[in-house]
Amino acid sequence: MSKQFDVIVIGAGPGGYIAAIRCAQLGLSVACIDEWKNEKGGPAPGGTCTNVGCIPSKALLQSSEHFEHAGHAFAEHGIEMQGLKLNLEQMKKRKDTVVKQNNDGILYLFKKNKVSFFHGRGTFLAAVEGGYQISVTASAESAPDPDPDLDLLTARHIVVATGSNARALPGTPFDEELVLSNTGALAINAVPKKLGVIGAGVIGLEMGSVWRRLGSEVTVLEALPTFLGAVDDQIAREANKLFAKQGLDIHLGVKIGKIAAGKKSVTVDYLDAKGQEQKAEFDKLIVSIGRIPNTTGLNADAVGLKLDERGFVVVDADCKTSLPNVWAVGDVVRGPMLAHKAEEEGVAVAERIAGQHGHVNFNTIPWVIYTSPEIAWVGRTEQQLKTDGVAFKSGTFPFLANGRARALGDTSGMVKFLADAVTDEILGVHIIGPMASELISEAVVAMEFKASAEDIARICHAHPSLSEATKEAALAVDKRALNF
Ligand code: FAD
Ligand code: NAI
Repeated sequence: MSKQFDVIVIGAGPGGYIAAIRCAQLGLSVACIDEWKNEKGGPAPGGTCTNVGCIPSKALLQSSEHFEHAGHAFAEHGIEMQGLKLNLEQMKKRKDTVVKQNNDGILYLFKKNKVSFFHGRGTFLAAVEGGYQISVTASAESAPDPDPDLDLLTARHIVVATGSNARALPGTPFDEELVLSNTGALAINAVPKKLGVIGAGVIGLEMGSVWRRLGSEVTVLEALPTFLGAVDDQIAREANKLFAKQGLDIHLGVKIGKIAAGKKSVTVDYLDAKGQEQKAEFDKLIVSIGRIPNTTGLNADAVGLKLDERGFVVVDADCKTSLPNVWAVGDVVRGPMLAHKAEEEGVAVAERIAGQHGHVNFNTIPWVIYTSPEIAWVGRTEQQLKTDGVAFKSGTFPFLANGRARALGDTSGMVKFLADAVTDEILGVHIIGPMASELISEAVVAMEFKASAEDIARICHAHPSLSEATKEAALAVDKRALNF
């Protein structure tokens, strides 16, 4: 017997579980299916983000930052440490506890909102009268199987939120022992003496930072000749300088050749930016060269769900797929692979299903790289504005001139405002510095309300606070910063 719902959500990552909760809030009957297993084989909703992404990486970033501060920054504050020792086992245990708290939190939210949760793989069987039939198979390994003992669910609306997986280098699969994806990078058992990272993107820089702080010599090999190409040039240059000073050995413009995994180490042959042949040997190698959409278990062909040539589910601006009443959100569709983008799409789709007007503003999605200092931005970069032929004014303010940053002992970086030359509307805000991840929210709100730089400059900000750097950068757009 098939169980009938208004909506079935496949995947309980940030896109899926938020869509399910919002649907339930709107009075729809909802099932959410997720196949992720914890180490005991039980359910672990939250997807990549909770299990092997945002949450565990931020837990390790925090712990490793404490370790680095204890070793290098406490003395300046008059706190003398003796016998400082790393307990990596405990650090990872704490990270696992944080992950479990998030898994359990989602199961609690499902109960609270009356979302029916099914642990297993959701697979399209057929389009049927009144919707679509989905099977839930017990394990990720089982093939789609319409066995009547397994759960058969039917719903008018389906939301596909199946996320993404790490992209491997051709011919070099992840073994998670020596050649690591994000999953292995978060679970290394002993600090590697030499750690190689291929790809100087978000994961490479965040995970490279974790292991460098814990004692690894980290070498990052990046194909592109420019560092952090999507980031505002001025901010990216500052980041490159600061990361080099910290000891991240970043090589740009390389071409990766043969990768040979031995018993205890990995050898990488590559051409450097000058075209010279190089060979490097690492104890572990993280490959972080982007992610690919995950549609493996969906059986998209059974219902004719259209995928593009890269495997993404094809959707329009409203997350509608090629099939009526089938929607898709998050990493499995176009756009930035970010948890908060997935969540916003999940909410918008739920509201559209309920007959409301869900909306996602792609122009105000913030980005954060959780290195130290953090990098955060929203809107367009200086180079994008130049390419788009938009006349703009800019204002920057360094944290060096901010009282709170001095008191914290964290004065690296700056806030940068870009505003329309004629209307003064804020077009982009770029921050490298302490708590950039928190500071960027003010800029997001301002841009969402189409504020001008002057609006921010005229608003009272608490003293002493890092947010005063935001106000000062807005003042600097009009060349009237007060403290610099
Ligand atoms: P996912 O989180 O991937 O969830 C998809 C879920 O669907 C999974 O649980 C999967 O098991 C399940 N699933 C797939 N197919 C099926 C099926 N057929 N049946 C049942 N279940 C299925 N983003 C940020 O915004 N901030 C960060 O700080 C951040 N840090 C990150 C750090 C790392 C190391 C990584 C790898 C990613 C990070 N991201 C971050 C990106 C973020 O994790 C993703 O953008 C986000 O998880 C996407 O959400 P999603 O719901 O689309 O997919
Ligand atoms: P990425 O797209 O951020 O970076 C990949 C890097 O690898 C790029 O710089 C690219 O030029 C380089 N590269 C690609 N092929 C290469 C090759 N053959 N040799 C050398 N370099 C190569 O991807 P990443 O770091 O894997 O992360 C995936 C996604 O996960 C991110 O784009 C982001 O959406 C998400 N994420 C978000 C985080 C956050 O919001 N703080 C943290 C971590 C991940």
